[in-house]
Amino acid sequence: MTIKPTTDQTGTPVASDAHSLTTGADGVIALHDRYLVEKLAQFNRERIPERIVHAKGGGAHGEFVVTGDVSKYTRAAVFQPGTVTPTLQRFSSVAGEQGSPDTWRDVRGFSVKFYTTEGNYDIVGNNTPVFFVRDGIKFPDFIHSQKRLPGTGLRDATMQWDFWTLSPESAHQVTYLMGDRGLPRSWREMPGFGSHTYQWINAAGERFWVKYHFESNQGNVEMDGSEAELLAGADADYYRRDLSDAIAAGNFPSWNVSVQVMPYEQGNTYRFNPFDVTKVWPHADFPLIPVGTHTLNRNPENFFAEIEQAAFSPANFVPGIAASPDKMLMARIFSYPDAQRYRVGTNYAQLPINAPKSPVNSYSQDGSQRHHFNAPSVPNYAPNSLGGPVADPAAAGEGAWEDDGTLLRAAATLRSEDSDFGQAGTLYREVYDDGAKARLLDTITGAISGVTRPEVTERAIWYWTSVDADLGAKLRANLAVFAEAAAVDAAYVAGQ
Ligand code: HEM
Repeated sequence: MTIKPTTDQTGTPVASDAHSLTTGADGVIALHDRYLVEKLAQFNRERIPERIVHAKGGGAHGEFVVTGDVSKYTRAAVFQPGTVTPTLQRFSSVAGEQGSPDTWRDVRGFSVKFYTTEGNYDIVGNNTPVFFVRDGIKFPDFIHSQKRLPGTGLRDATMQWDFWTLSPESAHQVTYLMGDRGLPRSWREMPGFGSHTYQWINAAGERFWVKYHFESNQGNVEMDGSEAELLAGADADYYRRDLSDAIAAGNFPSWNVSVQVMPYEQGNTYRFNPFDVTKVWPHADFPLIPVGTHTLNRNPENFFAEIEQAAFSPANFVPGIAASPDKMLMARIFSYPDAQRYRVGTNYAQLPINAPKSPVNSYSQDGSQRHHFNAPSVPNYAPNSLGGPVADPAAAGEGAWEDDGTLLRAAATLRSEDSDFGQAGTLYREVYDDGAKARLLDTITGAISGVTRPEVTERAIWYWTSVDADLGAKLRANLAVFAEAAAVDAAYVAGQ
């Protein structure tokens, strides 16, 4: 093996990996030891801000193969029969910071970047099909309530339940979170969802509303709460390690991807608002239509360059795919590229992990850390008479929908079956078996017993009673037992 000389960052060989430049062996350090200065200064700048949410995660490279035929619903190249597209996937937890344990109960992020022939397409979803709030204006408050108190820097059950119970649209997602879905055994053994309703447009210009589903070929396997707690202490990186080890061993995880499709006009007439991200679409009305298989088959070579600096965004659409009137989705379309300009840098899209594999013909220029630039002969303004890129007016109407045009701040118009608690109750009564119901009750009892304001506890009992009256009654009884035991403990401690 040939040993290479250490160099500084400009490629100049350095004299020592171990000793600073000093005035004599025991003397002071010289400021003009430029290698020492470079080393310390560079080290101080190794960190970039962590993601404001979903900070802890991991990921891998993969491939998406279209096995079905959905060409009558979308003209997107990535979804045409037989197409194979390279991908990047990142999994994550929402609330914890970079070093937080993977097995804390939380919603898990499920982000896929498709490097398509028409630009990058990203699906940035979760392992649950719904979300906590339905208007992006509530997102920062929701996240504040789940993270840490500004004063103590501690997480706080009282503020979590205060927010959730004052935002009853959260009930469906919280029923998932406090149920078995809140503790998957691994990232490989959980499903993924696009969660929002998206728009597909076919070659004839016809529009459809769609929801994405990723069904794990490893099965949906959950973890027992006590094992999760143990692992949180023993191996904070349990999921990250599991994914990396599986791929290194050639055990490539995969997901079958399918969509639910709603005809465009039905979006206006369906019995509940199909653009409300707190709702699922019943499979009886909108059966799953197979699209393809997504497989993860290559670990990153450098976690920071390929995972930490990866920028997934619901704003990344390609021809044949567009947004919908989901208010959360519209807010996200602003939020992610903004976050990434701040977190990674203005030219984050030029980093190899974020750059599309299709040509970029953009009039954007300059900015911090610019790497790619157009040839000097390409004009930097449009319109121009010098043969620069020209936008396609034929695409102007794509992704449109109609609304009544009144500018106001209001909840979406209620339809006959719009309710905050209806689908949460169905999930509890019709999807959870007796074991799952008992575990949910245990989990919410434990979580709510940490609430320190009685009116918030009472509101939490109302919330769960609204999901299911029997569940609410059992919770009230359980909390009373908890309170009694806590009082006995307190009396014992006081008597010591
Ligand atoms: C209006 C509501 C929301 C806002 C403003 C928002 C904002 C953000 C921001 C700023 C990031 C960090 C991006 C980065 O620094 O790269 C992020 C990450 C993420 N968000 Fe959201 N979010 C919202 C709702 C949602 C919803 C509804 C889902 C899932 C259905 C979701 C899933 C994710 C995931 C998976 C990540 C991690 C992406 C990655 O792996 O890099 N978010 N979100």
